[in-house]
Amino acid sequence: MKKQRMLTGLQPTGVITLGNYIGAIKQMVENQDQYDSFLFVADLHSITIPQDKEELSKKTRSLIALYLACGIDPKKNTIYIQSENPYHANLSWLLECNAYFGEMSRMHQFKEKSKKHENFTVGLFTYPVLMAADILLYDTNIVPVGIDQKQHVEIARDIAIRFNKKYGDTFVIPEPKISESGTKIMDLVNPTQKMSKSAENEKGVIRILDDIKVARKKIMSATTDSEMVIKYDPENKPGISNLINIYISLTDKTVEEVEEEFKDSNYGTFKKKVADEVEKLLTTIQTKYQEILNSEELDKILDEGRDKTIEIAKIKYQEAKEKMGFHR
Ligand code: TYM
Repeated sequence: MKKQRMLTGLQPTGVITLGNYIGAIKQMVENQDQYDSFLFVADLHSITIPQDKEELSKKTRSLIALYLACGIDPKKNTIYIQSENPYHANLSWLLECNAYFGEMSRMHQFKEKSKKHENFTVGLFTYPVLMAADILLYDTNIVPVGIDQKQHVEIARDIAIRFNKKYGDTFVIPEPKISESGTKIMDLVNPTQKMSKSAENEKGVIRILDDIKVARKKIMSATTDSEMVIKYDPENKPGISNLINIYISLTDKTVEEVEEEFKDSNYGTFKKKVADEVEKLLTTIQTKYQEILNSEELDKILDEGRDKTIEIAKIKYQEAKEKMGFHR
């Protein structure tokens, strides 16, 4: 039986966080045997806000090396760079002309990010349509993402359904896949906010390439509360609940098991255990990362990914274009 296709992408903006790892990459690693997996670097998305052009390609390469270091197997995944395949931007235009200003204006991420920049680009606004193109080009069935990207996958679904109705069956309707524990890893200092690559306070963010001692310190000084009870209650105990989420994601335990395990412990003991798990993860990834970063293997993987995805995307793009009436 043909495997279903799973696809996701991450932006090369800053070293990925524990949130990115748990929300997207870990899910890809865990499901790579079961699905035909596509994983890319969304570098075109990153330029919706200003990027240093000297750094962009370095960050892209670093992210690919991190994918592999995190356990993404190049034999089981098609790995590529979005900007190396012209059909993403091409299809995006066709889809833009089938997407509405009103629905794009309702995207949470646009509303948030446009507030932060006085003079934001049109690209920031049309960003979800490019994301829809990334997904729809490859007949994607499932899209593992953190909860912050769920709305974008839903708009990709809406656009696909609308296109199919208007022009005939063309696109597979994708489903978002949100891992239960990793829906949203929160900032360690301010646990009511998402842990973000672009956070202002580095103390709130664990980056996969953080120095191990620094990462441990961040966990040990994470904001909690004055109750001293290790109980999952995101509303009233956001700090502890976030640490529980991190712990269960890294150990594959359940909330109940963790509450039981630490029912007689204080916050310091619990935090130390969380820090141990984070240390284990970071040590493994960082050792592999250094080996991979400058290897020739990386370029070979990217060349293959580029050639394969161009071939697939070209066919889908031509089909969409013709259905819209572009032919001689
Ligand atoms: P990006 O680069 O912001 O984030 C990459 C992935 O990490 C998830 N994530 C989190 N998950 C849990 N907790 C957090 N604190 C956290 N922060 C981030 C995100 O949900 C995402 O899954 N638009 C996308 C990139 C993209 C894409 C696509 C994804 C472009 N085209 C097509 C899927 C399919 C983005 O900016 O992700």
